[in-house]
Amino acid sequence: MKSYNIAVMGGDGTGPEVVREAIKVLDVTTKKFGIKLNYTNYDLGGERYLKTNEALPDSVVEELRKFPAILLGAIGHPDVKPGILEKGILLRLRFELEQYINLRPVKLYDERFCPLKDKQPEDIDFVVVRENNEGLYTGSGGFVFKGTPNEIAIQESVNTRRGVERCLRYAFELAQKRRGGKPWKGLKPDDTKKGQASQLTLCGKTNVLTYAFDLWFRAFNEIGEKDFKNVKRDYAHVDATTMWFVKNPEWFDVIVTDNMFGDIITDLGAMVQGGMGIAAGGNINPKGTSMFEPIGGSAPKYTNLGVINPLAAICAGQMMLDFLGETEAAQAIEKAVIGVTREKVKSLAAGKMGYTTSQIGDLVASAI
Ligand code: IPM
Ligand code: MN
Repeated sequence: MKSYNIAVMGGDGTGPEVVREAIKVLDVTTKKFGIKLNYTNYDLGGERYLKTNEALPDSVVEELRKFPAILLGAIGHPDVKPGILEKGILLRLRFELEQYINLRPVKLYDERFCPLKDKQPEDIDFVVVRENNEGLYTGSGGFVFKGTPNEIAIQESVNTRRGVERCLRYAFELAQKRRGGKPWKGLKPDDTKKGQASQLTLCGKTNVLTYAFDLWFRAFNEIGEKDFKNVKRDYAHVDATTMWFVKNPEWFDVIVTDNMFGDIITDLGAMVQGGMGIAAGGNINPKGTSMFEPIGGSAPKYTNLGVINPLAAICAGQMMLDFLGETEAAQAIEKAVIGVTREKVKSLAAGKMGYTTSQIGDLVASAI
């Protein structure tokens, strides 16, 4: 029997509640598919920080390196100053474990939950590949004359050829692999004549960020031309991208972008797929420890009320199985989530689902 060691970090707020449901679903799924997951719990987050004044001990980072995957609930506590836990736990793990991809699928499971008029599930089915180790997130920059009227704050976007290139390659490969190798429906006859079967859109801002996105744009074209000729290359400025997410989401299949733009457009993506209740993501190191999370945050006001939607965490579990190579088991979870979403829940929003948090977990588990 295949077995995997998984680190579990429920974290703050509603994190532990949704992770509990994800594990409930993982347990029935792995049983059915003859897989074993061995969980080790890590008590990290705001409560621990308030008690110990330490967000993430170095020794824990070293221990986490030994796991192929981490299942994370949420990080963020109302009594801790913004930035401390985010930088101290979430970003630190993304950086130190070199999870250089932030993978965020945007898929509409039921048209009832789409805020866009007349859009169907087949119109909203794309993936954002967000660079996860560089850009504005490295902390490069600083203050000059802080606290004086002459104060200067500089925040620099770091883009290395190596970092950009590995992200682009991952995105090109994903574009090739998606849709089981079948040509993507959005391609024009002209593209298919050129032998192109998939599409990758680079989202940037080449008209203003003429250093950072010049590098991205050159690397995108060079790598595409050299190694991914069958992938149609498309480019969109980030502002236009947000417009098209709303107007023509069917234009997208795989989108690749930098850390900051990826952060912003994936919240919009989460909304068009039905909200934070269903949006999951993976922080991926293709050769190391990856970390999977619902992207919605800790939602402190809903803590322990049994009203939070666990589907996003369940989908994070699905992404984790897929990363581990357990494709069939992952697909079974997705199928069950689609069924529950289409046939059972009234809404994907906290408190309006028509079921409690644990009932949703039960529904998905029994569908499996
Ligand atoms: C996300 C979050 C984080 C980010 C925050 C909590 C640091 O918004 O995962 O998208 O900005 O990356
Ligand atoms: Mn975000």
